[in-house]
Amino acid sequence: MKIKVCVGSCCTLLGSMGILDQIDDLKDIINNDADNYSDEELEVEVIKCLGFCKDEIEQAAPVVVIDDETMFHATGQTVMEKIVNKMRK
Ligand code: FES
Repeated sequence: MKIKVCVGSCCTLLGSMGILDQIDDLKDIINNDADNYSDEELEVEVIKCLGFCKDEIEQAAPVVVIDDETMFHATGQTVMEKIVNKMRK
């Protein structure tokens, strides 16, 4: 699974570093629980700015892209839920 987390200034201001930390913690949990989670690799990429903050979409930040799905107003909770649902066996 490919996860892109925007760490541009708008997204950082609204909490993307916290989301990154939570993804790291979740990665450890998933890697240590082969019974319940798929062994698919979680690739996390940090992006300077995905460009959405410059669009007309108001308050798009923080932006996280999981595979081909773009999440606006991402929170630790919504991102964790998405990852867990996709990785759970
Ligand atoms: S700073 Fe995240 S989309 Fe621009």
